[in-house]
Amino acid sequence: MAQFDTEVSQVTMPRIGDRAPYFEAPTNHGNISLKDYKGKWLVLFSHPSDFTPVCTTEFVGFQEIYPELHQLNTELLGLSVDSVNSHIAWIRSIEENFNTSIEFPVIADLDKEVSMKYGMIMPGESQVETSRAVFVIDDQQKIRSIIYYPLTTGRNMQEILRLVKALQTTDEHGVSTPANWQEGDKAVVSPPKSQEEAAKRSEQEDIDYIDWYISKKDIT
Ligand code: BEZ
Repeated sequence: MAQFDTEVSQVTMPRIGDRAPYFEAPTNHGNISLKDYKGKWLVLFSHPSDFTPVCTTEFVGFQEIYPELHQLNTELLGLSVDSVNSHIAWIRSIEENFNTSIEFPVIADLDKEVSMKYGMIMPGESQVETSRAVFVIDDQQKIRSIIYYPLTTGRNMQEILRLVKALQTTDEHGVSTPANWQEGDKAVVSPPKSQEEAAKRSEQEDIDYIDWYISKKDIT
């Protein structure tokens, strides 16, 4: 019997704002659990399969942003349904072919326990491989953002980095970040919550007032 109904999938998916589902799992760096990341931000991502071309380019890309993620108190953790030995062999091959040392661990989710908890398998696309999912989990172990890409499209590492910076900027300054925001740009001030607050917005000195519902603020 098929594990999924591919017309309407019955899989539970975590959502933004949920507590990150707990996991303990084998990786190529030994066993790892969610509690190992308490007090840190975590980018948990899945890839379809070891020894595949798009995934290989992504691993090189993830490694490129890893030092900058570290500076943001953020860890990287990969996942696929391949074995620890497969991860070891593939990472050795990436190191040889691309002169890149992959420093972050990768979960070997052979029994699909973690991928099912996180809704990483898109049965309409593949019942055996994980899709290109990205979960940004904050230092309180809450899911702050979720991105999904299909099997055939490699992710944009600079966008993942930008997303972590944007989320941390929101936490630090109590602001939102506008379209295409980059570190150093002005942020968006939360809209007024009352008629009275709206009327006073134009008098506020520390903001760039555009209209009652949109103002920007320098946060550098
Ligand atoms: C790839 O990484 O190249 C890939 C993996 C699964 C399906 C399609 C492409």
